Amino acid sequence: MRRKIIVGNWKMNMTKILAKEFLYVVKEKTNTESMDVAFCVPFTLIGAVKEVLKDSNIKVGAQNVHFEKSGAYTGEISLDMLKELDIEYCIIGHSERRQYFNELDSTVNLKAINILNNSNIIPIICVGEKLEQRQNNTMYDIVKGQVEKAFENISSEMASRCILAYEPIWAIGTGVTATSGEAEDMCKYIRQVIASIYGKEVADILRVQYGGSANSKNASELLNMPNIDGLLVGGASLKEEFVDMTN
Ligand code: PGA
Repeated sequence: MRRKIIVGNWKMNMTKILAKEFLYVVKEKTNTESMDVAFCVPFTLIGAVKEVLKDSNIKVGAQNVHFEKSGAYTGEISLDMLKELDIEYCIIGHSERRQYFNELDSTVNLKAINILNNSNIIPIICVGEKLEQRQNNTMYDIVKGQVEKAFENISSEMASRCILAYEPIWAIGTGVTATSGEAEDMCKYIRQVIASIYGKEVADILRVQYGGSANSKNASELLNMPNIDGLLVGGASLKEEFVDMTN
């Protein structure tokens, strides 16, 4: 049985003061008994957020990492730097990074390899189609290509440590959620793609989240789908309604 996992993605929001205020309230009410819960926060907030959450079961993650060990990459953050902060998760290949920062399937793959080979951090690998790709019915091919490329040169043992997040771009931050049926279909398809690469055993272990305008109103319906193992939550993770999504 795959344990469900809800991860808040704060994106470029919050400050230390706001984060502390918010988390003191949230940590008391969040239910971590039946599911894993984490917040992936801006790099500069990781220390403060870990401090507030140290006496809770809520974990902390980052939103990106570079694929090289170190070097002349102004403005980037290395895996060693993240390891010092003792985080649990790292989002890679988020569609906003693909769209605004030129992240490619190939760099997502290199980042996954770096994380898996050199740390115990769990990569949350994001995939998802654009609106026109759904409209012209190429979404399955697009997502399959993203998944296959992301997992190139990754062993089955490493793959089973990963989390995949299906995030249709048209649903992110738009208030338009995929229906639970649409989300379930694609998460199921992603599991089939994983099974075709690694076999059923890995596909049964690997968790597939849905992300895109998930909120307290649609969470339980999405989480009840057999192939949706959790949610990656943007906007709603900045509000107290996040608590309701875990209850
Ligand atoms: P959203 O973002 O919940 O605000 O749509 C989801 C995400 O980008 O991970």
